[in-house]
Parts: sequence; C-alpha cells; structure tokens
Amino acid sequence: MFATMGALGLAPAAEASPRVAFTPPRPSDFTLRGRSAARVLVLGGGVAGLAAAYELGKAGYRVTVLEAQDRVGGRNLTLRGGDRLTEIDGATQRAGFSRGQYMNAGPARIAQWMTTMDYCRELGVPLEVFTNSNAEAYIYNENAGMKAPVKWRTAKADVYGYVSELLAKATDQGALDKQLTSTDKERLLAFLTDFGAIGRKTDDFAYKGGGRRGYTVDPGAGHVAGTPLGDVPALADVFASGVGRAFSFEFGYSQAMLMFQPVGGMDAIPRALAKAVGHHRIETGAAVTQITNLARGVRVEYRSGGRTRVAEADYCIATLPPHILAKIPHNLGASVQSALATPVPVSTGKIGLEYRNRWWETGHNIYGGITNTDLDVSTIWYPSSGYGGDRGLVVGYYNFGGNADAYAALSHSARLDRALAAGAKIHGPEYRRNIAASASIAWRRQRHIEGGWVSWPSRGAEYALLNRPAGNVYYAGDWLSYEIAWQHGSFESARKVVTELHQRALKG
Ligand code: ALA
Repeated sequence: MFATMGALGLAPAAEASPRVAFTPPRPSDFTLRGRSAARVLVLGGGVAGLAAAYELGKAGYRVTVLEAQDRVGGRNLTLRGGDRLTEIDGATQRAGFSRGQYMNAGPARIAQWMTTMDYCRELGVPLEVFTNSNAEAYIYNENAGMKAPVKWRTAKADVYGYVSELLAKATDQGALDKQLTSTDKERLLAFLTDFGAIGRKTDDFAYKGGGRRGYTVDPGAGHVAGTPLGDVPALADVFASGVGRAFSFEFGYSQAMLMFQPVGGMDAIPRALAKAVGHHRIETGAAVTQITNLARGVRVEYRSGGRTRVAEADYCIATLPPHILAKIPHNLGASVQSALATPVPVSTGKIGLEYRNRWWETGHNIYGGITNTDLDVSTIWYPSSGYGGDRGLVVGYYNFGGNADAYAALSHSARLDRALAAGAKIHGPEYRRNIAASASIAWRRQRHIEGGWVSWPSRGAEYALLNRPAGNVYYAGDWLSYEIAWQHGSFESARKVVTELHQRALKG
C-alpha cells in the first residue's frame, strides 16, 4: 500500500536502484529442466574469477579456478609483515611491517554505489570509512612555483573566494545580463556571498580570507577568539599555484566521499570469496599455457609443480589481464588474438612507509585522507584506521604512467630514498624519521599481472568481440567493463558472463 501511495505521490517513494539487475543462477534452474550443471574452468583467481566461480557455484556448477600465483586476489593484494614480493626480474622484497600494519597495494577504496559493497554485505566483510578527501591534508604544486604546501581547506577558501568575487563583480556590473534576470542575479549573488565568503556590494564583493582558511591560533576559551591565517595570497598567485586543479577529483562518481574499505585490509574480499567458493575448487600455482576450444567444451593446459597438466570442461571463463592472455597460445582465431593485444597496460605503483609514531596526526591534525602534489609521488595517503595509535602506515606514493615507470625502474631502496625526498618537501625532516619498515609495488613488474589496469584506445570492435564468447571461452574482468581499475568492474563483468553462460547452459 505504501508503494502504491508512493506511486500516487502520497508518500515518499523508494528510488529505483540504478545497479544493473542480476539474478544468481539457482540449483532449481537445472532440476526444473532435468539437466545437470555444467563444468566450468575459471582462469584467474582475482576478483572477477572468484566472483564468477562463486555465483556459478550457487547453482551447483562444477567449477575449478586456476590461479598462477600462490595466493588468490590478483591485484587485490594487501601486504603485511612477512609477505614476499617478487618482481619480474627476480628482485624480491620481504615486507617488514609490524603486526596490524598493512598496505592495500592494489584497490584501496570503494564507492558506496559500487556492487563491491553488496558483496561485502553478502560475504560478511566488515567495512569502515575510507577518507578520500580531507580538508586537513595538503596540496603542493612545486612545479607551479609553490614555496610551501597549503591545506586543502585554505586552497578551497582562496579559490572559491576569488572565483566568487569575480563572478559577483561580473554579475553586478551587468556582464551576464543576457543570461540572467534580475531575480536570477539576486539569487546568484546571494549564493556567491555564502559560497565564497566574500564581502557585500558595499565592499565590492571582495574576498579577504577568514576562518575557513584555518588558524594560526585555534579558537579557544574565554577571550581566545582564534587568529585566522593571515596573508591572503593575491588572486593571481592563487590561480598560478594551480591548487584548484585538485578539486574536481572528488566530484567524480567513483571518487566522491563517503568511501569505504574492509576492516583490516582489502584482501578480506578475495579471502571471503575463496572461502565461499571452496578452497578445494581453487588451484594456486597453476599457470595456464594453452587454451583450446573444442567442438564440445574446452581444454586448458597449465604448468603446476613443474609439470604440464590438462583440465577439460564444458566452458571456460578467462579472467587474466588481456595482455597476459595475448601471450598464451590458443585456437580462437586471429581477430581474438588482435583484440586481446589491443588494450594498453597502465603503470602504477605504491610505497608503504610504516612509522613508529603518527606524526601526521599529532603534528598536522591529519586523520586519513590524501595529499595531492605535482611531484613524482603524485599523492601521499594517510591511514583511515588506527587513529591515535602508536604506529601507522603512510602510502608515500601512489602514482601512474611515467612517474610510476620512473619508480619501477629503481631498486626498492632507491624508491624509498626518492619517495622520502619528495615527502620531506611537504612534511619536513620528520618524514625521514621513525620509519620502521617499507615495501613498494610496481604493478608492471608483477608476474602474471604486468600492469595496474589497462586502457582501451577505444571501446570499439575489439572490446565488443571479447565481450562475446569465442566458442566455449568467455572473457571477464574489469577490462571488459566501464569501470576499469575498480573491483566493481570485475564484479559486474563476472555477473554478465555468468548470466550469459547460464542461459546457454540451460538451453544445452
Ligand atoms: N580505482 C583506482 C583508484 O581509485 C583507479 O585510484
């Protein structure tokens, strides 16, 4: 009745979910048709592969997951003390982090609208807030001539203030009379006065700073009203600093607060998926060496324990990165091969710095969030958990493209030196002190993965081709979605393929 009232406009109606609808396969789908569930080989035990195995398993499909690494998760990797990280050329690190400290080396944030949230609920993975933007974190554009970092709050106050001042002046002077009625103008001026904290018309709408920028002495008791940060920079200097370039990041659908992370590490997601799939169905250390589509079924060769082994099934879902699949011999034809070779792997890297104190909290009032720079480290992330504790792990860089390549080319200790030199420009000598341990990842140098994610030159014929099965071989992964580099893309792609494969299996 309430829903009907909602439809009639008599009660608030629940908004329709914008998520793509998905009905997991059920055992009854087969029993009702007198069929038995098919056998499926899933290549790759990352998020897409595990999700496909999990959903198919609900209907009783006989699923085997082949994973080349000795762990599940793929790029969903949480580094903890004792973990070894080996790069393509053999360089090996052993993460020396203390108990309870970790770095999410791959995915590290989840938007509330993402399907990933549904899986965390279903699998019982506890979540906590991940702070993606923080007014107390910094912006520092050295190449734009900034002499010192500024807090996000200060940068926003200045940019919003001056933009509001200019727009208010233009509006008041009649520059927008063609676009605005006098009522529009009044409303716009009222908005700008509030948004930019600017003066009234009698003050020529001037922006003069104020408490939004922050304080040198915080407001306190009695007569301590607080001393606002002085020396408001000139309009030209604010725009020259480029600080405003950082702001639109948080407008993105995928990046807007609130965001979330699993408590204790992102790998709680693949761990929970693997448990639900059943560990006996997952073979780690199994590197695929050949994929053969058969008249009925699929044959996959793989190396495991120094031997070549063969597995056969009715269908296969290949979830390896496309540039890895492109290196594996198959009989699926030249157009599949050239489609697999089309997406371009993207470089990205991170370094985790464990400190014996939480100087960013005690010295800078930073409790989570991200500092944005135009240095080669790009961003510095402060931990969104463990507030007020003794130790904490800062991500000293999370960068892409050429910056990531530059760090990838170095040894770990050279990466550490370079990251510390950059961070010290923002945080001073403290940045180099009290480091207990560090570890860095260069995703282009991770075996069996060789990239952070991929970029399609265009989602053209190749993208369409791989979004269809090649014989009995299906492809899935974030690379076949519109949310590349997000677990959401992996989950959505897995669901799409599960739905298609299931419909086909039911028809027989
Ligand atoms: N999903 C990646 C990130 O959050 C691209 O940075």
